[in-house]
Amino acid sequence: MTVRLIRGEVERAAAAIRAGGAVAMPTETVYGLAADATNPDAINRVFALKDRPTDHPLIVHLADPEDLDRWAPAASDLARRLAQLVWPGPLTLIVPRSDRFPASVAGGRDSVGLRVPAHPMAREMIRLAGVPVAAPSANRFGRVSPTTAQHVLDDLGEFLDDERDVVLDGGPCPVGVESTIVDTTVEPLQILRVGGVSSAEISALLGTELADAHGPARASGMLPSHYAPACQVRLVDSHDDALALKAGTPGARTLDLTHDVARYARELYGELRRADADGVTTLIAVLPEAVGLGHAIRDRLTKAAAPRPA
Ligand code: TXA
Ligand code: MG
Repeated sequence: MTVRLIRGEVERAAAAIRAGGAVAMPTETVYGLAADATNPDAINRVFALKDRPTDHPLIVHLADPEDLDRWAPAASDLARRLAQLVWPGPLTLIVPRSDRFPASVAGGRDSVGLRVPAHPMAREMIRLAGVPVAAPSANRFGRVSPTTAQHVLDDLGEFLDDERDVVLDGGPCPVGVESTIVDTTVEPLQILRVGGVSSAEISALLGTELADAHGPARASGMLPSHYAPACQVRLVDSHDDALALKAGTPGARTLDLTHDVARYARELYGELRRADADGVTTLIAVLPEAVGLGHAIRDRLTKAAAPRPA
């Protein structure tokens, strides 16, 4: 079965959402698999297409920052301020869930994750659909997030339905790693997942410190093994260490974009996929410095390198 790639056919995608279908949409971070966030059947289908456990909450995407009040009337003042300062952008805010959203979109929780993506195609699609869309990353559960429409087709093409679903091609995602998730239902605010905007930037904007997440895995991206390619991933701190390790490892490849962290983030998931496609046995990745986007890259690489469940 072939699913057509449509560049700019945003209207057909919006119609698919309204009809309960799924739309793979580009965002500035990664491609999301979007469905009407107010339609429980459409939400169930997204969980099924991804093979994702139904207790893992989805992120709901709004078209405009002004939509926050309507969809999250109980959001805190800090949440509102963050939304005003960072949206559209790679920041997901966990806020109290209003009963305008079915519990299933939030994996049964009484909070919900919201964000306004900084991608014109996604925002236009959501505007035209007239409803917020729940959109997890458009990959099978536990796999590497897609940063091109072709990645989406590689993962989900065989499961999508040509009649009901649409894959929108907006080109490669400009950020390349998922949004930062901040829980605004707790004091002080907690970072549940590092991502496209650093906690230092958020702290600076708010003039207050944020706490790291604690307690049992709160977000699925916080499981120790996630974002994993099929090949083994080994982490090193320098280019020289990478070359030394490669010399003794048959079938290994090195990955080092530490000279340009924005590019490292943008190309990271594509490189993990390419290693698998090329039959690489071991990808030896050099960790960037733990500043700015470097935090998110280190986090994803560490999860890709973690021991896998049998
Ligand atoms: O950049 C992104 O955030 C991308 C694009 C498509 O927007 N989306 C994304 O979605 O990464 P997903 O489903 O792969 O990751 C969603 C994360 C999960 O780790 C989930 O547990 C967490 O968000 N999450 C969502 N709602 C939550 C809530 N109410 N409480 C705690 N965590 C929540
Ligand atoms: Mg994901």
